[in-house]
Amino acid sequence: MAEERTLILVKPDGVKGQHIGDIITRIEHKGYKIEALKVINATLAQLKEHYHDKVDAPFFPELTSYMQEGPIVGIVASGTNIVSILHRMAGATNPGQADWGTVRGDYGREWPDGNLRNVIHTSDSPSEAEREIAIWFPEEVNK
Ligand code: PPS
Repeated sequence: MAEERTLILVKPDGVKGQHIGDIITRIEHKGYKIEALKVINATLAQLKEHYHDKVDAPFFPELTSYMQEGPIVGIVASGTNIVSILHRMAGATNPGQADWGTVRGDYGREWPDGNLRNVIHTSDSPSEAEREIAIWFPEEVNK
């Protein structure tokens, strides 16, 4: 079992919905450590880097405008196997298919405009986590 770090982004709908505290509580109650946390107004450059393999996807303009609807909250957290466990805590990408008990299942929903708003991002793998942390928390690199 590896000691790892992961990146969590509470997306604009998660911030507006006042779910920051609950998400932090879930992470802490699981015994993980919050290493860094900040409110961020995401730039297009940061989003292009973060979603680098999605820039040519048809949904990319929608994704960037969603992520710039308001502030987001970035969190770096650490612990044993935290990457896969928090990915499960987030739930399925589409909130309409996410299980109850997951963040997206509890707070996400299908929107009438058909756009995807899914409350939270968590890293897919330990190497992705380190790549993403460097984008949002350059001061945390090599810690
Ligand atoms: S893929 O390649 O289709 O499997 O993409 P996927 O892994 O499902 O999604 C990649 C990230 O893009 C987000 N996404 C969207 N955001 C807004 N609108 C639309 N239509 C949309 N489609 C995909 C999805 O939530 C993933 O972001 P994160 O932050 O990792 O959840």
